[in-house]
Amino acid sequence: MTTQQQPRVQWLSRWGFVLAATGSAVGLGNIWKFPYMTGEHGGGAFVLVYLVCILAVGVPVMMTEIAFGRRGRGSPIDAVRRVVSESGRSSVWSLLGWMAMLCGFMILSFYVVVAGWSFSYLWKMLTGGLAGSGVDDMAAIFVANNENPFNLGFWSTLVTLATMLIVGKGVQAGIEKSVSWMMPGMVIMLLILIGYGVFSGGFGEAWSFLFSFNTGSLSSEGMLAALGHAFFTLSLASGAILTYGSYLPAGASIARTTLGVAVADTLVALMAGLAIFPVIFANGMSPEGGPGLLFMSLPLAFQAMPMGTLFGVLFFIMLSMAALTSSISMVEATVSWLVDNKGITRRTAAWGTGIVLWLVSTLAMLSFNVGADWTLAGKHFFDWLDYLTSRWMMPLGGLGMVLLAGFVLKSETFREELGLAPHWHALWLFMVRYVSPLGILVIFVDALGIARLQFGLHWPWLLGVLVLITLIGELASPRLRRTLAG
Ligand code: TRP
Repeated sequence: MTTQQQPRVQWLSRWGFVLAATGSAVGLGNIWKFPYMTGEHGGGAFVLVYLVCILAVGVPVMMTEIAFGRRGRGSPIDAVRRVVSESGRSSVWSLLGWMAMLCGFMILSFYVVVAGWSFSYLWKMLTGGLAGSGVDDMAAIFVANNENPFNLGFWSTLVTLATMLIVGKGVQAGIEKSVSWMMPGMVIMLLILIGYGVFSGGFGEAWSFLFSFNTGSLSSEGMLAALGHAFFTLSLASGAILTYGSYLPAGASIARTTLGVAVADTLVALMAGLAIFPVIFANGMSPEGGPGLLFMSLPLAFQAMPMGTLFGVLFFIMLSMAALTSSISMVEATVSWLVDNKGITRRTAAWGTGIVLWLVSTLAMLSFNVGADWTLAGKHFFDWLDYLTSRWMMPLGGLGMVLLAGFVLKSETFREELGLAPHWHALWLFMVRYVSPLGILVIFVDALGIARLQFGLHWPWLLGVLVLITLIGELASPRLRRTLAG
């Protein structure tokens, strides 16, 4: 493997990083999953738990990833290898980088299909293809949209092309430039949609659905959902944030930048709820989860409202942009690795990756039509990609990163890279050593269905476990470090 000769490209400003990382973080998870989850699991009470999860798990893990990226100045594989070798540890750890890069690529393979839905609905809104009088009609349109592989494939191919076009142009001229107008554009569109919601007649109901502090409906399930979502929504452990971090200028504060991204991501998620639910409630519909909310209820609701088509179009432009700024981040790790190691230009790397991506995503797309019977252990290829990445690769990758940073590597590396005041550094270290791993383990164990942890009932237990592993960890850590380093 070659080492880089020239200094690595950097974002033109710290803002470039914040916008790009927020673009990665803000995606379908924020617009479609979070608002519904919030309403379902107790409104304000859920938001509060979610914020705690973001601070306890999301922020420390994100800081660690960015620090790896900037210290190693490379794709996940190269960056992890360099940082690990700086501490004199085994290069086997770079497997974590491989997993992250593969994870990003695999997520993208099914994400382009979902993003394709958004683009095709934008087109349908524009051309009047969503005319229908009830949810049944809308469901039929959704099914028809998926049934024809040429139709569905056309839209996912379009997303793939757009992604590769942006990434192929480079970090500054492609990614930074596109997010610098797409992200503000998205926020403006969201604000307009919220304004529309205020006048629609359903705003009050939406507000209380989202924010009324309802501890009664905050179950242990809700708490787990908050924890899992905190991890997913920040695009962690999939190579995206690490690679973006590798372009971060040396002087930028990693902690402040991370907090900025986490706050922006949360604000967009809350705003999305205030844009979607007023329209739903104004039409006397009930909120629901899954594809039904965005692709059936919402188009129907817009249709019934004055100037609904215009605002519906605006909504799907906003959704498509959110998806696109996420998909470019998923492929950047792979492209950057190819450029650094294979001596090819960025453009060639992007198109090469695009072709492989197109093949894999086409297979995923076929799960909805001709390949409806191609299942393994009851899952389609599309479902397998989702299952392997979100249930296995993301938690394991995140866990590996924090344990590596917390116990195995030299502490100076992160002290220098994070540049925090001693007490803040101690807090970060405590988080990555004990709190984040415990949080990730809880998500992991629950998601695999090994055990359903009754969180709500057993908070004191969980705190007890945290205290115990902290004591053991602190007493054993020099030894632990030696063992883990092999
Ligand atoms: N954060 C994205 C969302 O909220 C989803 C996501 C998960 C993602 N992992 C990622 C996006 C990796 C880009 C890269 O929808």
